[in-house]
This record gives sequence, C-alpha cells and structure tokens, in this order.
Amino acid sequence: MQKKSIIQKNSALKSESPIGIFDSGIGGLTVFKALRKLMPQENMIYFGDTAHLPYGSKSRASIIQFSVEIARFLCQQKIKALVVACNTSSAVALSAIKKAVSVPVEGVIVPGAQTCVRKGFRRIGVIGTEGTVRSGAYAAEIKKFSPGARVFEVACPLFVPLVEEGWWKYGVTQEVARIYLKPLQKARVDSLVLGCTHYPVIKPVISRVMGKDVSLIDSGEQTAQEFEKTLESLNLLRKRTGRGWSRFYVSDDPERFLRLSRRFLGSSILVKRVIKKNFE
Ligand code: DGL
Repeated sequence: MQKKSIIQKNSALKSESPIGIFDSGIGGLTVFKALRKLMPQENMIYFGDTAHLPYGSKSRASIIQFSVEIARFLCQQKIKALVVACNTSSAVALSAIKKAVSVPVEGVIVPGAQTCVRKGFRRIGVIGTEGTVRSGAYAAEIKKFSPGARVFEVACPLFVPLVEEGWWKYGVTQEVARIYLKPLQKARVDSLVLGCTHYPVIKPVISRVMGKDVSLIDSGEQTAQEFEKTLESLNLLRKRTGRGWSRFYVSDDPERFLRLSRRFLGSSILVKRVIKKNFE
C-alpha cells in the first residue's frame, strides 16, 4: 500500500472522511462486514458494479477499465482510502487503480497471501474465479516470501451463483464443492485461501469437504485487519465516538442488491437504501 508519501501529497485526507470499498457486485459485502465489525466508527461508501458482474469471466482490459472508473468515482466522494474488495479486480487491476487515484489503496490478495506465509503453510490451496486463478496473483505473492511453498489454484465459478441463490444449505452445493475441491484434497494442502468475495458465506460447506486439518484463510477478514493497521499508521482512523454511516451505490438494479444484501450481512446490518449510479 502506498503510505506516507500519499498523505504528504494529499493533505485533504482526513480521518473524518469515509472509506471507499468496491466490488464487482454484492459479494464484497463480506469484506464490508469484516471492516464494519472491526471499525464500527468509520463512515463507509460501498460500490457494487452490478451492471458488469461477474468480473471473474471478463477480460483484463474490461476489469481494469471498470475498476479505475469506480475508483475515480469514489475519490470524487472524498474518500480517505480505498479497499478493493473484489479478488479478481485486486488480482488484475490493482496497479492501474493505484496509478489512477491519490488515496491509499488496499487489495485483498496481499493480506490473504501474507497470512499463509506468516503461518508457515507449505502446501497452499487457492480457490477463486477464473480471472483470479488465471492471473496467478496469489501464487506470485506467496512465493515472493515463501519460495519453497507449493501453491495449487482451482477456479470454482459455480460457487458465485449458488451463493447468490442462497443455496448453500442444499446438497447440490456440497456436491459441487466436492468436485471442485477434489484436486486440492489429492494435493494434500495444509491450508486453503478463500480467494473470492462469495466463498466466506459457504465456509462451513468448504470446511466439511476439506476436513478440519485444513486451515481456511478468509482474505476479506485478513484485509480488514491489515487495513485498520494502515489507517492507524497514517493517522486516518476515525475516533471511536459513535457509529459511522454507510452509503451504498450500484450500477444496476438497486432492488436485487437490497434483497441479496441480507444473505451476505445477516440481520445485524441492514441496508436501507441503495443508490443507482450510471456511468456514461
Ligand atoms: N467479486 C468477485 C471476486 O471476488 C466474484 C464475483 C465476480 O466474478 O464478479 O473475485
């Protein structure tokens, strides 16, 4: 993450300003939830690019274009820092986003990968979208610090619609998980990175298939912890006086986002209003 130099360059960054969070759609709410839990006092603006969902099967060029556009829009809302909650966008567009905006930017890949390194895992499984797996971003980041580690990556595209349908309690999700995760069981991984926004929702299903000896790493949770430390080091944490507000934008139908938000956030956080933002 670019740190103090950004603060010096941009003295307009204030601890009172909101945090920007964006994702290809609704799944980033798992990251939003982790951030909220850790930093209830922060003001937060979430953007779900529901008009372009899914990013996982899109080209690099499209993902970069959408991501940069959204990052710029959030900066117009005067955010103090940005979390790229989407794994696919973090994997392919992070450097383009960092170049395009002048606030600190945190993606979800590095915190997830570094947790594996810190915990000393040697046979690491990574599951994500086709785009994330194709990019090899998790493996590259893990091997930077742990060159001897073996990384096994598997794309699990069907998990996204199954989670959005709310089908995680049905047998079909368990069956799909069993098929996708078989190569990782065969590889005898000691850990498994949930490298997609939607996967924490089906963590119990994944855990049941992989068994209790495999540690599951939730990239979103790790990112929230890392991001809090970064805000603190930059003197950008808002004081813990009361709850912060949340604002939600989407690029397509707000109704669907509103309805599905409960699946991702549970009953403790209620999304009351979603604003539609059109890009020209
Ligand atoms: N948010 C995406 C990710 O974490 C999953 C959904 C999509 O493919 O857009 O990679």
